[in-house]
Amino acid sequence: MTASVIAGSGSFLPPRSVSNDELAAELATRGVETSDQWIVERTGIRQRHIADRGVGTTDLATAAARAALADAGVAADEVDLIVVATSTPDQVFPSTACAVQANLGTPGGAAFDVQAVCSGFVYALATADALIQAGRARCALVIGAETFSRILDWTDRSTCVLFGDGAGAVVLKAANAPGVLAANLHADGSQGRILYNTGALSYGEATGDPFLRMDGQAVFKLAVNVLSQSAREACEAAGLTLDQVDWMVPHQANVRIIQALGRRLGVPAERVIVTVDQHANTSAASVPLALDAARRDGRLQPGQLVLMQGVGAGFTWGSVLVRL
Ligand code: ACO
Repeated sequence: MTASVIAGSGSFLPPRSVSNDELAAELATRGVETSDQWIVERTGIRQRHIADRGVGTTDLATAAARAALADAGVAADEVDLIVVATSTPDQVFPSTACAVQANLGTPGGAAFDVQAVCSGFVYALATADALIQAGRARCALVIGAETFSRILDWTDRSTCVLFGDGAGAVVLKAANAPGVLAANLHADGSQGRILYNTGALSYGEATGDPFLRMDGQAVFKLAVNVLSQSAREACEAAGLTLDQVDWMVPHQANVRIIQALGRRLGVPAERVIVTVDQHANTSAASVPLALDAARRDGRLQPGQLVLMQGVGAGFTWGSVLVRL
């Protein structure tokens, strides 16, 4: 059977970074009280990137895709599959993936979006790997891209300090040896009410609440539980132990979730990639942004075993274990 390998990665962050102090000053003008100290202590976040008005998820996704293609040395017209993970598309349809394909000027291959919120990239990567293994595609662009700043209630301090905008991408190519060693995807729809956005278009009208709402403590507990189960499941499926994994690249929601996960699994902090301090939570973009940052700064090396993990609204979660 054909396997898939990560041939390159890329990412894009909007140029405007906003520190906690800058955000706190801006929120104070709206009567919302927060501080750098509270945000760092409870989340580890120090800054986030925010897209300017007029810049959309498609723009971020296209820039990340171009960077990944350049890194892989792959021409855009070799791509026969584009999967974009996003919960903040610029429009209902066409999909972000089709808009990215148009920007790259490469019509013909399949292009579709995956909506699994902060698990989106892991869902998209596992899907692209399965399509390559089945012989339905040879060269995929897998992208996570979000503009979460557009769905935040900037008067709700318990959520608006947590998120940022950005995009990350990988080129996944057919190969004789993996590559992707194991993947698992899970969901529990009965947990839908701990993190949600009920905004919708219905009969020509915008309905529901356009903003993200969250029960932070419930999300925290569930995330640590399901991610630790999913990590063990991925290693077992590949016939490996967690000790053999060189790097964990977990979803970047909160440094305390990442630390609790490491403790639960017995994985030391030196083997866990953390970018939430710089990017905040970029939902589906967080894992490919972290992966790309760590590849570019030389921590992730060819031949190493990397466990990528997503968890998010739905509730959804999953893991992809890869040999680089
Ligand atoms: N600045 C200052 N004070 C704040 C802020 C803020 N930004 N936000 C909340 N507070 C206050 C609350 O009002 C509360 O005040 P009170 O005691 O006077 O009522 C106090 O801080 C404690 O609030 P809690 O909600 O109990 O704080 P907690 O320690 O649980 O931290 C947090 C909140 C950071 C959201 C935490 O629950 C968490 O990290 N949860 C995980 C959720 C997460 O990361 N979600 C991301 C999306 S989901 C995903 O990606 C998987």
